[in-house]
Formats: sequence, C-alpha cells, structure tokens
Amino acid sequence: MGMIMGRKTSFLVVLVHWYLSLATILCMFTYCHGNPNVLCRKRERAALLTFKESIVDPSNQLSSWIGEECCMWKGIGCDNITGHVIQLNLRSPYDPYTAYEDFERLRLGGLVNDSLLGLKHLHYLDLSSNCFEDTTILSFFGHLQNLRYLNLSHACFVGGSPHQLANLSNLHYLDISDLSLQIDNLEWLSHLSLLEFLDMSYLNLSKASNWLQVMNMLPSLAELHLSACELDKYDPIPYVNFSSLVVLDLSSNWLPDSTFDWFQSLTSLVTLDLSENYIQSPLQAAFQNMSCMRNLYLSYSNLSSTMLNLLCNVSTLERLDLAYNNIQGVIPDAIGSLSRLRYLVLSGNGFEGKLPRSLGNLCNMQFLDLSDNKLWGDVYGLLGNSSACIVGNLKHLDLTLNKLSDLAQNQIHGSIPSLSFGNTIILASNNFSGPLPLISSRIRYLDLSNNSLHGSLSPLICEHKDLSKNLLSEELHDCWMNNSQLEVLNLGSNKLTGKIPSSFGSLSTLMSLSLYKNNLSGDLPLSLQNCQYLEIVDMSENHLLGNLSIWLGHSSANLAALVLRSNRFHGNIPQELCHLNLLQVMDLAHNKFTGSILRCFGNLSAMVRLDQDTLAYFSEILTVHGNPLSLVTKGTEHEYNTIDTIGLVTTSIDLSSNDLIGEIPKELTNLNGLRYLNLSNNQLHGKIPDNINAMNLLESLDLSMNNLTGVIPQSIANLTFLSYLNLSYNNFYGRIPSSTQLQSFSALSFIGNHGLCGPPLTPNCVGDDTPLELHQDSGWIDMKWFYMGMPFGFVVGFWGVFGPPAFNKAWRSAFFKFFNGIKYKLFGDA
Ligand SMILES: *[C@@H]1O[C@H](CO)[C@@H](O)[C@H](O)[C@H]1NC(C)=O
Ligand SMILES: *[C@@H]1O[C@H](CO)[C@@H](O)[C@H](O)[C@H]1NC(C)=O
Ligand SMILES: *[C@@H]1O[C@H](CO)[C@@H](O)[C@H](O)[C@H]1NC(C)=O
Ligand SMILES: *[C@@H]1O[C@H](CO)[C@@H](O)[C@H](O)[C@H]1NC(C)=O
Ligand SMILES: *[C@@H]1O[C@H](CO)[C@@H](O)[C@H](O)[C@H]1NC(C)=O
Ligand SMILES: *[C@@H]1O[C@H](CO)[C@@H](O)[C@H](O)[C@H]1NC(C)=O
Ligand SMILES: *[C@@H]1O[C@H](CO)[C@@H](O)[C@H](O)[C@H]1NC(C)=O
Ligand SMILES: *[C@@H]1O[C@H](CO)[C@@H](O)[C@H](O)[C@H]1NC(C)=O
Repeated sequence: MGMIMGRKTSFLVVLVHWYLSLATILCMFTYCHGNPNVLCRKRERAALLTFKESIVDPSNQLSSWIGEECCMWKGIGCDNITGHVIQLNLRSPYDPYTAYEDFERLRLGGLVNDSLLGLKHLHYLDLSSNCFEDTTILSFFGHLQNLRYLNLSHACFVGGSPHQLANLSNLHYLDISDLSLQIDNLEWLSHLSLLEFLDMSYLNLSKASNWLQVMNMLPSLAELHLSACELDKYDPIPYVNFSSLVVLDLSSNWLPDSTFDWFQSLTSLVTLDLSENYIQSPLQAAFQNMSCMRNLYLSYSNLSSTMLNLLCNVSTLERLDLAYNNIQGVIPDAIGSLSRLRYLVLSGNGFEGKLPRSLGNLCNMQFLDLSDNKLWGDVYGLLGNSSACIVGNLKHLDLTLNKLSDLAQNQIHGSIPSLSFGNTIILASNNFSGPLPLISSRIRYLDLSNNSLHGSLSPLICEHKDLSKNLLSEELHDCWMNNSQLEVLNLGSNKLTGKIPSSFGSLSTLMSLSLYKNNLSGDLPLSLQNCQYLEIVDMSENHLLGNLSIWLGHSSANLAALVLRSNRFHGNIPQELCHLNLLQVMDLAHNKFTGSILRCFGNLSAMVRLDQDTLAYFSEILTVHGNPLSLVTKGTEHEYNTIDTIGLVTTSIDLSSNDLIGEIPKELTNLNGLRYLNLSNNQLHGKIPDNINAMNLLESLDLSMNNLTGVIPQSIANLTFLSYLNLSYNNFYGRIPSSTQLQSFSALSFIGNHGLCGPPLTPNCVGDDTPLELHQDSGWIDMKWFYMGMPFGFVVGFWGVFGPPAFNKAWRSAFFKFFNGIKYKLFGDA
C-alpha cells in the first residue's frame, strides 16, 4: 500500500509539474498576444517583413502584417514589458475536415528567410502544416536558442539528422512529426534536458538504434510519440529510468519482444499505445507495476488468448482497445471488476459463448464494441435488465456480426427490449426477430439491419437509421413530419408496400434515402423536391413511376448517385438530369424510358473530369451514409463502399433495357471521367462516335442488343483501361482480328453481328491473305491492344494519374484522419 501511495504521489508531482509548465507557456502567449500597450521593436519588425517577402501566401493570411504595430499582427506575440517578439504562430489553419484543395490553398509556401534569426527572443515557434521550398533547413532553427516550443510537424521538411537542434537547451516541446528526415543518430536529443513533450511520429528511425538510450536521458520527458517510426530494434541499456513518462505512443512499429521487459519500470504511465505492432510475448510482466494505467490501446497486435484475463487485474483501466487480435474463448466474468471502464473495444477477435452478466455492472461504460466475434445467446444482462446499471450510461453499442439470438424466444415476450439508452446502437447482422422494438428518441444512430425483424415501422427521430434487410412488411405511414434530424434512412430489402408517403418531403435534412428492393408502387411524391440535401437516392427494384422532372428540377443540386433501376418510370429522360453537377452515378436501367439519349449528358461535370475533389466528395458521402451502393458493372452486381472508393471512384451511366432510340450523341464522349457505360438492350442506331477514345478512363462498354452499325472505330484501340467490351447483337461489319489472349479480359463479345468476320467469330475473312496492318486506314481495329493485359494497364494508368496525391504521406494521413474524424463525429465522444 505504502509503495503504491508513494508511486501515486510521485506521479502526481510529475503531472502537476507538467501541467504547470504547459500553463505557463500557454498563458504567457495568450496575454502577450496582440497587446496594444507594447510597441514593436523596429529591428524585429524589419526582420518579420523580410521574412514575409519570401513567403508565398496564396490565401493572404499575412494581410495584417502592415503598419508599425507588429505586436498586433496575426500570429505574433510580444513580451508585455520589453516589447520583444516572443511568439510566432503560423500554423496552417488546417483541420481534418478541410478539403484537400483548401488545404493546399491555406498553406504557406516559399522560402524561410534568414531574417527569422533576428527574432532572438523567440520562445514559441509554430510553422506546422505549411509547405516551404527550402526544405533542408531544419538545422537552421538550432540558432533560436530561447525557444521553448517548436512545432514543425507536417511541414514538408526533408534531410538528415538535425544535429544543430541540440543547441535548443530551453526547449520543452518539440514536434517534428511527419517530415521526411533520414535520421541515423539521436544523440543530439540527449542535450534537450528540459524536454517534456516529444513527437517524432512518421519519421524513419530504423537506423537510430540509440533511441531508447537517448530517451532514457531526458529526465522531464512526460509524453513521447514515436508512432510509425519503423522501430525494430534498440541498443540494450543497463537501466531504464525514464519513469516520469505519462504518455507513450509506440504504435505501428515492429518492436522486438524484449522491449516489453523494460515496461515494468514505466510506473507513471497513464496512456500506452502499442497498436499495430507484432507482439509475440505474453506481456505478462509488462503491466505489473503500472498502477496509473488508464488508457491502453492494443489493437492489431497479434495478441493471443490470455491477454484479457491478464488485463482484468489492471483495475485503473478506463479505456481498453483490443480490436483485431487473435483472442479466443469466452469474455471472462472478471471483466466486471474493471469498474472504471468507460470504453471497451473487443471487436474482430474470436470471442465466443455468452456475454458475461458482469458486463451489466460496468456502470461507467459509455462505448462498447463487441462486433465481429462469435458471441451468441441472449443480451438480457446487457439490454433487458433494467436494474443492470450499464444501461444508464451507455452511449454507443455495437454488436454487429455476432450470433446473439432472439431475446424474443428466450426471455422477453417476442421482442427486443425497448432500446432506451445510448445515442448509437448497432445490432446489425444478428438473429434478432420479432417486431421492431420501441426506440428512444435519444438515439441518433440506429442500425438494426440484416436481422429478421418484422411488423410495421413507426417514424423515429434520429439522424441515421438503417433497418434494411429485415422482414418489415407494412405500408409506410404518412407521418414523417417531426423528423427534422434524419440524415440517413435505409429501409432497403424489406417487404414494404404502398406509396412513398408525401410526408417524406418534410425530411428536410435527409442526405441519403435507400428504399431499394421493396414492393413500393405509385408516383413519387412531389414533396420530395423539399429534400434539398439529398446526395444518394436508391429506389431500385420497386414499382415506382412518376414525374422525375419536377423533383430533379427543384432540388437535388447535391445529388451524387441516382439509382432508379428496375422500376416503371417512362417518358423521355428528363433534361433536368444535366444540371446535376455532382452526379457520378446515374442508373436508370430496366425502366420504360423512351426518346433519345440527351446531348447535354456531355455536361455532367462530375463525370467530365475525375479529380481529387470528386474522389473525396464521393468517398465522404459513402462513408457518412454508411451504406454500400449496389451497381451492376462489368456484367455483375458489385457493392461499392468506402474501401473501393478510397482508391477508385465509381462513375457510371447505365441506361440499359429501356426503349431509347436515336444515335449515341458524340457529346457523351466529353465524359473523360466515366468508367462504366451501359446502353445495352435499347433501339439505338447509327455509329459508335469516332472519338470514343476521349473517354479515356472507360473500363466497361456495353452496347449490345441495339441496331448500331458501321465499322468499329480505330480509336477504340486507345482505351487502355477497357477490360469489358460487348458489341454483340448489332449490325457492325468488318474484321475482328485474331487474338490469343482474350482471357485477360473479363469479357469481350462480338457475336450476333452478321457483317463481322475473323476469329473468334469465323476462322478468317474473305480475301484474307492481306496482313492486318493494311486494313488500318480503312478503319479496322488493330487488336494488338487486346493482348496487353488490361488490368495491368489500368493499374499503371490510373495510379499514374491519381497515384502521387493518393500516396503522398501527408495527404494520406489527412485522409485517414478525416475518416477517423467522421467516425468520431458519428459515434460521439466516449
Ligand atoms: C501583460 O498585459 C496583460 C494585459 O494587457 C495583463 O493582463 C498581464 O498581467 C500583463 N502581464 C505582465 C507579466 O505584465
Ligand atoms: C503541432 O502542430 C500540429 C498541427 O499542425 C498539432 O496537431 C500538434 O498538436 C502540434 N504539436 C504540439 C506539441 O502542440
Ligand atoms: C537515467 O540513467 C542514466 C544513466 O544510465 C542517466 O544518465 C540519466 O540521467 C538518468 N535519467 C534520469 C531521468 O534519471
Ligand atoms: C515491479 O513490481 C515487482 C513486484 O510486483 C517488484 O518486484 C519490482 O521491483 C517492480 N519494479 C519496479 C521497476 O518498480
Ligand atoms: C439484473 O441486474 C442486477 C444488477 O446488476 C443483478 O443483480 C441481477 O442478477 C440481474 N438479473 C438478471 C436476470 O440477470
Ligand atoms: C453544355 O453547357 C454549355 C455551357 O454551359 C452550354 O453552352 C451548352 O449548350 C450545353 N450543352 C448542351 C448539349 O446542353
Ligand atoms: C448492361 O445491362 C444489361 C441489362 O441491364 C445487363 O444484362 C448487362 O450485364 C450490363 N452490362 C454490364 C457490362 O454490366
Ligand atoms: C454480351 O451481351 C449479350 C447481349 O446482352 C449477352 O447475351 C452476352 O452474355 C454478353 N457477353 C458477355 C461476355 O457478357
């Protein structure tokens, strides 16, 4: 007991010390910033202006840098008494939600001028998240010897070890994460004896094997971040004594197992992140002496069975993440003794058996994710028992993809107990049956999809509601008023009947509406035009009809995907579609549309050019909406979800199986960003446009079952990404050159064209001793391109266009932060 008290006290001392110095630094810079009573020093003002001259500032962030009063300029702070400039904060106003394009624009660029060294009294310097040109100058900052805070993270600097930073003996905070530095030795760090915070994440430290030795010499170090540093070894040291450490992040490395032996000396540790390592040792000893441990992140670390039993003794735990390891067996009852637990993630392991009743005793629990395991049995202890105190706290519950059975048949008279807690409930892909439960109006995110719930549906107030893939069978009642917060509604794959009620028009915040695979019939309600924010609409496989023009003409400027396949829509294709500047997926297949394909489709700008913005927009949409989009591409149905769209954006027009007539408008070839085009099974005539090659991202082209004619244009040979081509059942004529490697295509079909000759249709053409090349200028295809192995061509070509930004580390990390942000936003703080 005495020992524990002793350790606690020393930990408190450290913590208090650490917070105090943080407070000193922070308040020093708040009060001095923009103090009108202080006059700016002339020489420092001149230095700042010289610095500004060489900076490139596209969004004019330094516009306030004019006039005499430099202490009032944006980002500058002066000492109250002496008037010296002591703070320069030019951190780019970037946050994870910033669109890539804005991010570029908000960053400062250009050269960092020497004049900066004229600011001899500088305590605080933050240039993070900008991108300067003279990127090898990291050592330059070693001259600013009064610095206490230096943040250069994410700012494009490259080079070797910044030895000169050893001069910054006053430094308390150093953040040089996410730079491209080749660091072979960290000796220089050991001179920074006041250092309390160090972040070198995303630097390659695989050559700096003295990292542990150096960290061990920093007596005040309280927070250390070395995530994704390619750490796979360290020089052994006799004695590990950096016991003031409170936060340690070593995630995403290849740490050797011996690392965990010295963990027992880290007695003050409060937060430890070892996720994404390959841990083979049982970690038994590591946690023995960590009497302050509160936050433990161990996901994706190859941990095995005993781990959870072991951690049930660490009674101080508040957050525990063991997602995606190899932990098997039952969840131990002892988990109930972790009474402070607020956040528990055990998803993606092999947990089986029943949920322990003791979970119900965890009264502080706010976030519980047990998804993707093999749990079964009832959830009575968790949800049904109103005296179990977990229910009063829980905000987020995710039990997806378990085998938790039907409470109904077990204890609770035929239904899931009313869901009266939390703001996020995910019970998807289980075996729940019985009628829909009563659902509390506090729930913001509800996913009960893929169960066997039946009965009728009452409108519920929440932001995200997914009840798809159940057996809901009644009419949709016309009482969707008062749902002013609903953003995502998925009722797909049920047995709903009747019309879409006109009160859907009062869902003014709706962004995603999925009603696919039901028995809905009748006209679309005109009131749908009030849903101004719709981004995804999927009503496929119903019996709907009605006037699309009025709806599309009035709302839907945000529409990115419109999927109406397999309904009864008829009449001309509405002109209003052409005004949908963000439309990337248009699926009108299997309806009764007549008339011709609109020339103005060539103006669908989101398909004209595929760029970063389009990519980001669509990925974001599918992430927020959480529903994969089901489309027929290359002949089979695929679900497009975020994983696909991180790499590849889906752009698709499917007008197949209608009654369209006329020619294929040549304007369609403007769509340089289109990947899938299906015009099959109509009555189109005329030729394939000569410049079909302009659609240079086309992967799949299906023109089968029309009345098209003429020779296949030579230019089709330039479509290097094409891997599916179906021209069968038309009136094309001319030669099909022989090919031995058609199997590298997912499909290639020319049958049913009586004028085509050559393999694979006929052994040869009439008068066939002429070499193939001679036919070229008469418009025949040289099928050489068919031999190339299209998938390879596509990968090389696509990543040639999109690769550099997509693989750029900064961008990538921003992107993933963005997704994390989204998750956070949806699931709330826990
Ligand atoms: C600096 O000025 C601010 C307000 O102008 C004042 O509140 C603060 O106490 C001053 N600090 C010192 C150290 O004089
Ligand atoms: C450094 O700046 C980045 C933003 O550019 C920020 O996320 C990070 O927390 C800062 N580091 C410190 C130690 O304040
Ligand atoms: C830890 O021990 C080393 C010697 O092995 C010493 O140089 C260093 O100052 C010590 N660090 C602390 C924090 O006591
Ligand atoms: C860790 O705890 C064990 C006993 O539980 C003790 O023998 C050992 O000395 C402790 N190690 C440190 C570094 O405090
Ligand atoms: C309901 O919860 C209370 C408190 O946790 C517990 O004592 C009781 O045994 C539970 N009842 C059932 C049937 O699980
Ligand atoms: C496409 O847009 C341009 C410019 O907005 C316009 O001039 C042109 O007429 C449009 N084309 C069609 C076919 O609507
Ligand atoms: C084009 O549409 C038809 C009819 O809807 C379908 O059978 C065919 O598989 C589709 N082609 C491709 C390449 O997806
Ligand atoms: C090409 O289209 C025809 C008619 O739509 C279809 O019967 C055939 O299966 C398709 N060929 C391939 C390889 O998909």
